[in-house]
Amino acid sequence: MASLSVSRHNHLLSGLLPARHKPTSRPTRVRMSLRDDGPSIAVVGVTGAVGQEFLSVLSDRDFPYRSIKMLASQRSAGRRINFEDRDYVVEELTADSFDGVDIALFSAGGSISKKFGPAAVDRGTVVVDNSSAFRMDEKVPLVIPEVNPEAMQHIKAGTGKGALIANPNCSTIICLMAATPLHRRAKVLRMVVSTYQAASGAGAAAMEELELQTREVLEGKPPTCKIFNRQYAFNLFSHNASVLSNGYNEEEMKMVKETRKIWNDKDVKVTATCIRVPVMRAHAESVNLQFENPLDEDTARDILKNAPGVVVIDDRESNHFPTPLEVSNKDDVAVGRIRQDLSQDGNQGLDIFVCGDQIRKGAALNAIQIAEMLL
Ligand SMILES: NC(=O)c1ccc[n+]([C@@H]2O[C@H](COP(=O)([O-])OP(=O)(O)OC[C@H]3O[C@@H](n4cnc5c(N)ncnc54)[C@H](OP(=O)(O)O)[C@@H]3O)[C@@H](O)[C@H]2O)c1
Repeated sequence: MASLSVSRHNHLLSGLLPARHKPTSRPTRVRMSLRDDGPSIAVVGVTGAVGQEFLSVLSDRDFPYRSIKMLASQRSAGRRINFEDRDYVVEELTADSFDGVDIALFSAGGSISKKFGPAAVDRGTVVVDNSSAFRMDEKVPLVIPEVNPEAMQHIKAGTGKGALIANPNCSTIICLMAATPLHRRAKVLRMVVSTYQAASGAGAAAMEELELQTREVLEGKPPTCKIFNRQYAFNLFSHNASVLSNGYNEEEMKMVKETRKIWNDKDVKVTATCIRVPVMRAHAESVNLQFENPLDEDTARDILKNAPGVVVIDDRESNHFPTPLEVSNKDDVAVGRIRQDLSQDGNQGLDIFVCGDQIRKGAALNAIQIAEMLL
């Protein structure tokens, strides 16, 4: 049986990714995580791209826990995972998996969340769900901790009272990390987003497919197309989410609807075009903003420099702006190309370019920041 090893020094997708996609080692620190006064936690979908990142982020942030359950499908049951120098065995997910669990981090897809999320809540577990299953449910907070922490202030772990909290879509999180500080100052009336989304957003198998296809194309062989139904290497295409009757795909509509819910602003106008690009990890987004109040680019740059979880990379002289590679395995969302939109009068519009690691801030890190607020 294959084993996975995830620790602070060897974190992320070990056994799933080629060495060059793994992050570099981090310095040794004394661990404070395993402690009697921490919550009991469960990671659902632990063998996947996000699940592995959950373990990495838990370790990096010294998230306290008294026990941790590793859950996946029957396929992976019995697989061994080394986490923080202890061996764990992956268990098959069942409703009973949540007995005695305070916090469950879900990343096994929407159908699994729909089936097992409510079962966990019934057992008193607070579920932080990475899928889209509950995001638009009015009773479920949709939270980016830097943006709308107040939406979940009534929920705490370990009270015996279960609850669901949804993690927004990865593209929404990355976009709003940059757009929200500007929105707070000048109020966004309209936002136009174009995304350049990485393979990792479609899971570990998509990353493997991109790597395999790249090798196959270079060797003159026909590319293997299992996850995506067309050539991905040396190509780009409209996001693989289903296209709806209004012509938008589901990924694009998530950005529209989730922004309104997170900003608690049903009037904000959002439109998006979501594209898959042959990048292994980290999404990029071009974001055009129209404001109610004037906001010049220097003020916007200062606001972004001081925004939590945001770093500005905006060096016009050397043409250095954010790239997916530079933000891979990083917590912060990078913003650059900050400039006045010439097509709008006065200082009512800005263009920015944003990059963020969507497995990290777009998924696992955001969820664990939520979990930290439950303690
Ligand atoms: N990748 C991203 O950047 C990203 C960002 C935000 C949100 N998300 C969301 O997070 C979820 C997982 O995405 P991912 O990219 O990590 O996918 P992934 O790499 O394909 O991993 C899927 C995980 O789900 C588990 N799973 C599948 N069927 C299961 C079942 N019947 N019971 C229990 N576990 C099951 C798999 O376990 P086995 O090993 O047993 O198959 C695996 O651990 C999705 O809802 C996705 O939309 C992903």
